[in-house]
Amino acid sequence: QVYQKGVKNLCDKGLNKLPLKYVLPNSDRPGDCKSDNPNVIGAVELPVIDFVQLCGPNRRHVLRSLSKAGEDYGFFQLINHEISSEVISSMREVCSKFFELPYEERAKYMSSDMHATVRYGTSFNQTKDTVFYWRDFLKLTCNPNLHQLLSNWPSSPAAFKDSASTYAEQTRRLFLILVEAILESLGAMEKEEEELLKEFEDGSQLMVVNCYPQCPEPELTLGMPPHSDYGFLTLLLQDQVEGLQIHHQQKWVNVKPLPNCFVVNIGDHLEIFSNGRYKSVLHRVVVNANEPRISVASLHSLPFQSTMKPWPKLVNEENPRRYKDTDFGIFLQYITSREPKRKNFLESRK
Ligand code: SIN
Ligand code: FE2
Repeated sequence: QVYQKGVKNLCDKGLNKLPLKYVLPNSDRPGDCKSDNPNVIGAVELPVIDFVQLCGPNRRHVLRSLSKAGEDYGFFQLINHEISSEVISSMREVCSKFFELPYEERAKYMSSDMHATVRYGTSFNQTKDTVFYWRDFLKLTCNPNLHQLLSNWPSSPAAFKDSASTYAEQTRRLFLILVEAILESLGAMEKEEEELLKEFEDGSQLMVVNCYPQCPEPELTLGMPPHSDYGFLTLLLQDQVEGLQIHHQQKWVNVKPLPNCFVVNIGDHLEIFSNGRYKSVLHRVVVNANEPRISVASLHSLPFQSTMKPWPKLVNEENPRRYKDTDFGIFLQYITSREPKRKNFLESRK
């Protein structure tokens, strides 16, 4: 079936109308950001966290901003993150080159196995979606055992493995430093912090490279449906093309890309761990008619086999436990059986 081959493949054949397969029902369409559509309120300035300040004498102050961002937005932009612009630009380059490969080359990595450590695909969940989303993606498991996993990563473009693995390692290092800060912001003492951090050492890391080609009728479809991220934290690298929208105060708002920064968001695991203090917020992706957009999401959490529960320190009489134990198996069951209209996964864990 032609749609299973992805959006890029479809566009390369030339397209001036959106195929019915991608046309969302009226109520699920993105709405027009420029008109007075009540669904969208234009751009929001996400809280900005300066990594250098976080690691310097202003740490206490920055930790307070971090808490506020987690509570009010579930998102922040991280600037001065110290991953070099060379590492970032070579990651961008190999990713866009990958999507420029002939379809047959990309198709080598297609798999219907949700557990496959390398998986090229399209839409959101291409085996389940009735309406397809305007996205192709490459999913790479990065941790644990990056060097073992690497042998299955795409061998074309030639620099892919090198650039993508360096990028994966460096975002992982950044994640670990951010987790430390987040634990501190939740009141962890040094000893507790050390113990918790140890659990993250063998944690899971999944990288998703998203490609949203130009779309002939962007107002009728989405690149990604509303969803929250499973996991603890996601570090997202966007390009200069807008597309990400987050659900904030009952409205969809655009996230304006800042150059060379990461958009960081709280995942379901961290919402559970924080017993609801930090929010895993719904977000979605709109597409556009003018430019393709590429993003790289790096999703980090505890090892796949571990169970997530509220941190006992944050559960007391005033704050009773708000979530059931949750593991990866439960999540997989949820996504493979889900109805086309998604509810927030966390709703099922309360
Ligand atoms: C994601 O939600 O994982 C990706 C968002 C984006 O492409 O901006
Ligand atoms: Fe996401």
